[in-house]
Amino acid sequence: MKKQIMLSGIQPTGNLHVGNYLGALKHWVELQNSGKYDCYFFIADLHSLTSDMKADDRREQITRTAAEILAAGIDPEKSTLFVQSHVPAHTELAWIFNCVTPVAELERMTQFKDKSVSQEKNINAGLLTYPALMAADILLYKPEAVPVGDDQIQHLELTRDIAKKFNKRYGEFFAEPKALLTKTPRIKSLLEPTIKMSKSKGLGHVIELADEPAVIEKKLKKAVTATEGGEGSPGVENLLLLLQHFGSESSHQAFVAAEKDGSIRYGDLKKAVGDAISTHFASFRTRRKELLDNHNEIADILIDGAHRASEVANKTMEEVRKLVGIR
Ligand code: TRP
Repeated sequence: MKKQIMLSGIQPTGNLHVGNYLGALKHWVELQNSGKYDCYFFIADLHSLTSDMKADDRREQITRTAAEILAAGIDPEKSTLFVQSHVPAHTELAWIFNCVTPVAELERMTQFKDKSVSQEKNINAGLLTYPALMAADILLYKPEAVPVGDDQIQHLELTRDIAKKFNKRYGEFFAEPKALLTKTPRIKSLLEPTIKMSKSKGLGHVIELADEPAVIEKKLKKAVTATEGGEGSPGVENLLLLLQHFGSESSHQAFVAAEKDGSIRYGDLKKAVGDAISTHFASFRTRRKELLDNHNEIADILIDGAHRASEVANKTMEEVRKLVGIR
């Protein structure tokens, strides 16, 4: 039986944090290990070009992201892992999609509007046409489903729209992929537990998967817990959420009960959360370090992944070129 094709990408942002992990990587590993899908996972380095960064830093982040994806359990024997730019078909199809996508649709995208504010000095054309490249990433592989977080749903809808527009103009070719909306816990910043956990605020706001136990402990010590007036503290909720995902069920339940009856001690909660996360990522840290000490191993995996991905992508492109009349 032919397996369903599943595809997803992640931008190379350097070290991943626990929010990224629960939001994407953990599901990738589960989907891979379910054995039900033919999985393609890639590092969206071309998308990362829409934000300014030094070349050496970008290179470093791509390598680290690859090491972390592998250390978290993506297995190159089971899944195809590659870097977007290694498969030039992505940019070629993105151009063709640019030519069927109305600018007005692109201007409506929430992410474009947000980025136009957050990087107001660098509102480049790539930020605007980002979803056309994303549509190319996806449709090249004709996946049935695309696991994404809810911030990417709008882009996936536009992908379906682009598929429709292409089909209308050039003949029925692309199927419309479904979003596989993964229910992801909203992990908050340690220091500002009302906002999403994000590195842009500073390293004290996040727990990185690569953080050593002592670092995790230190960060948690500074995590905000009590709020003025008592009423349900978002900081405590956030720590409980982390414990729910990384700790044992009994420990989580005990702290939830203690919070309800007011006997909770935040120091104990922080210790439990720190221990749980440190333990959970112990083998991850070892494997990550091993890989980063051996860049050749990472490079070999990515080259092989790009070969496998190219076979599929190039086949799609051959047909697309004929359909649009450039062959
Ligand atoms: N835009 C996605 C993000 O920032 C990353 C991405 C690029 C992606 N291309 C994709 C995700 C294709 C899924 C499918 O999270």
